[in-house]
Amino acid sequence: MSELTDIIKNMIRHDGPMDLARYMELCLTHPQYGYYVTRDPFGGAGDFVTAPEVSQMFGEMIGLWLALYWQNCGSPKRLNLIELGPGRGTLMADLLRGTRNVAGLHQALTITFVEKSPTLRDKQRDAINASGFSGDVTWAEHLNEFAADDAMSVVIGNEFLDALPIHQCTFTEKGWMERAVGLSDDGQLQYGLIPVSPLLKVLIEERTDTPALNDLVEISPERDAYIRDVCAVIKKNNGAALFIDYGHDVPNAKGDTFQAMRDHGFVEALKKSGHADLTSHVDFFRTKQVAEAAGAAGFGTMTQGDFLHHIGIGHRAQNLVQNAGDKAEDIYNAYKRLTDADQMGDLFKVVAFTYNDKGVPIL
Ligand SMILES: C[S@@+](CC[C@H](N)C(=O)[O-])C[C@H]1O[C@@H](n2cnc3c(N)ncnc32)[C@H](O)[C@@H]1O
Repeated sequence: MSELTDIIKNMIRHDGPMDLARYMELCLTHPQYGYYVTRDPFGGAGDFVTAPEVSQMFGEMIGLWLALYWQNCGSPKRLNLIELGPGRGTLMADLLRGTRNVAGLHQALTITFVEKSPTLRDKQRDAINASGFSGDVTWAEHLNEFAADDAMSVVIGNEFLDALPIHQCTFTEKGWMERAVGLSDDGQLQYGLIPVSPLLKVLIEERTDTPALNDLVEISPERDAYIRDVCAVIKKNNGAALFIDYGHDVPNAKGDTFQAMRDHGFVEALKKSGHADLTSHVDFFRTKQVAEAAGAAGFGTMTQGDFLHHIGIGHRAQNLVQNAGDKAEDIYNAYKRLTDADQMGDLFKVVAFTYNDKGVPIL
């Protein structure tokens, strides 16, 4: 049990079963008891390890991608760099360190972190201060608070889209129904089914295949809306967006990818609400459809392994290993972890969007 479990039970008693999207949102970002609001979950002593926490090479490679993109666009004098869900700020700190010799880039940069967690904002502030970056840095809770100006904007997000709420709908004998969280006879949280809303019905029917009994699809108007907001921000002056996440890139994807993680293992999502990371695999096919409908060009997906190799992680790893003494094996293992197909290399994918007719580097 947790404080948040009690709050959610009361909400259900009052308003009836809540859809999975609302449950996910409350568990992750409830202003007092949300998972990300109350802790720093990263690293060996936390619940999971993300790519920037595996090795500095990850942020450095994203930095090189950014520098290439900026140079392709003629090295504009001003560049808004916006990171969605920056965690501890490690990716940004490594990106800044890795690009400090790119003439003019840091002078052009204004950074915005989009982060709901006050705990993680403090970590991001520390990471930026330690990086020595002296330009403007601001924070927002949502991208739509970002004050757009006339400069080009680049949005990046690693393991951000997977944290946005999803709805799960299943095809039953009565037609499509939505998975919801309700209460059992003895007052515990349990899954059930509620009728799908008119909006979800439209989104499901946009899919092209004929459903079979018990088909389960994941739909996220919330993620779609975020992608549209990203597109609105990058539309000006050749902006671009780059997302890295676990997910799939096939039409009409089916199946349950909702997961809860604590202490480096999978746990039951309805136990101890707010004490596990709740995510789903990103539907990159849908994400590209939404961006393209907003007028952007979509690039990728490419596997994380290929993307990092094309930028040059192999050379960087070799260089670090040569100068690392007894840390050489750790660096080699981190390189393998980020790029090998049976580690993070294939599961994680990279997608980019732009309104620039020159495209984006690498993808
Ligand atoms: C899995 S972590 C990824 C952190 C970091 N990008 C990394 O790779 O280490 C998800 C991040 O997104 C933030 N986050 C989750 N949901 C969010 C939302 N709806 N709006 C803004 N930030 C959110 C979390 O607080 C956290 O910083």
